[in-house]
Amino acid sequence: MSYLVQEIAAEVIRSTGREQPADAALREVLKQTRNLAPFDATEVSKTVFNYYRWHGWLREERGGVEAKMRLALRLAERFRANPASVPLAELRAKAIPAWTAEHMEVSDEWLRSLQREPKLWLRAKRGQVPALLDKLPGAHVSPAIPEALVYEGESDLFKTPEFQGGEFEIQDISSQVVGLLCDPQPGETWWDACAGEGGKLLHLSDLMGNKGLIWASDRAAWRLQKLKRRTARAKAFNYRAALWEGGAKLPTKTRFDGVLVDAPCSGVGTWQRNPHARWTTTAEDVKELAAVQQRLLTSVAGSVKPGGKLFYSVCTLTRAETSGVAEEFARVHPEFEPLGLSLPQARNGPSFPPSAATITLGPADSGGNGMFIAAWRRKKI
Ligand SMILES: C[S@@+](CC[C@H](N)C(=O)[O-])C[C@H]1O[C@@H](n2cnc3c(N)ncnc32)[C@H](O)[C@@H]1O
Repeated sequence: MSYLVQEIAAEVIRSTGREQPADAALREVLKQTRNLAPFDATEVSKTVFNYYRWHGWLREERGGVEAKMRLALRLAERFRANPASVPLAELRAKAIPAWTAEHMEVSDEWLRSLQREPKLWLRAKRGQVPALLDKLPGAHVSPAIPEALVYEGESDLFKTPEFQGGEFEIQDISSQVVGLLCDPQPGETWWDACAGEGGKLLHLSDLMGNKGLIWASDRAAWRLQKLKRRTARAKAFNYRAALWEGGAKLPTKTRFDGVLVDAPCSGVGTWQRNPHARWTTTAEDVKELAAVQQRLLTSVAGSVKPGGKLFYSVCTLTRAETSGVAEEFARVHPEFEPLGLSLPQARNGPSFPPSAATITLGPADSGGNGMFIAAWRRKKI
């Protein structure tokens, strides 16, 4: 680690907190640090995330942030060379906060995955895979999904002409699975109820060949602004954006062929990619967010056409938010029946039963974020 990288990373770490997550602090500091070579910017980001990945070990270290960063790098190197050098009991005690074990199943495999650097996933626009493999050295096709590429190159992807031209998006493979499971058809009408900055909306639009209509709503106007910039870049035009707070006052009276609730959640499934969140998320967040998710599903249920589909996805793995919400929804909504989920474009995985009512993706299934998906069809009578 160069002195420059160490000092910038330390500045980022000092400015993080519950109100200022590490990724936001990183963006802020890198924006102010002009003329930093792309390689150094990547190193800063890796150093910051590595610090939080090994945070549970650093608390006992006396010394300042710099000494802790160096210890975190030594721990990561030791783990990379030999994962068994860090006993599972130690991972259980130090890699995650104590409340986690009460709220979800903590598998050995998941724990180990948390301490590795995540893969960087791209989603190629349909038909663009061969050209992208040609133009982006370091991109490889995933064995599971034809349009999902792993990127191992060193370019600043945001600056590539292919990204600027909307030929690909940066999107985790588990999020890509959500879009594929929705399987929207050209000409249909969909509602992406928590569209945020549009990651899944862009995928739905591509799958629909830009035909039909997607309502994209969110409570955050700034996120919808970003969505509009992204759709313009990707040339996705078949959508209408609307603010929606999540309550009974809906943005439209339309009845939809499909509704996706990609709900706000505790984000435990992103802890490999976003290790700072391990230390700011609480058991109270889980409880509150499960209630928000339940309310969102109830609010949109009446907007699904008879025969239409309703999807609930969350990038978390806690029982209260995932199966807890899905089971409660099924209990109070007998007008919906479980939709058999199957992944049309998968080649060799992710592996799950061909018509499961719910799917939980973990690192072993997809090599991406942890994700839970449930889906129902509104009965025709
Ligand atoms: C998981 S994120 C959505 C990510 C997005 N679908 C994507 O793929 O990029 C959840 C979104 O729900 C929004 N949200 C939170 N509470 C909400 C509510 N009560 N009503 C509507 N949207 C809400 C957040 O602003 C956030 O954008």
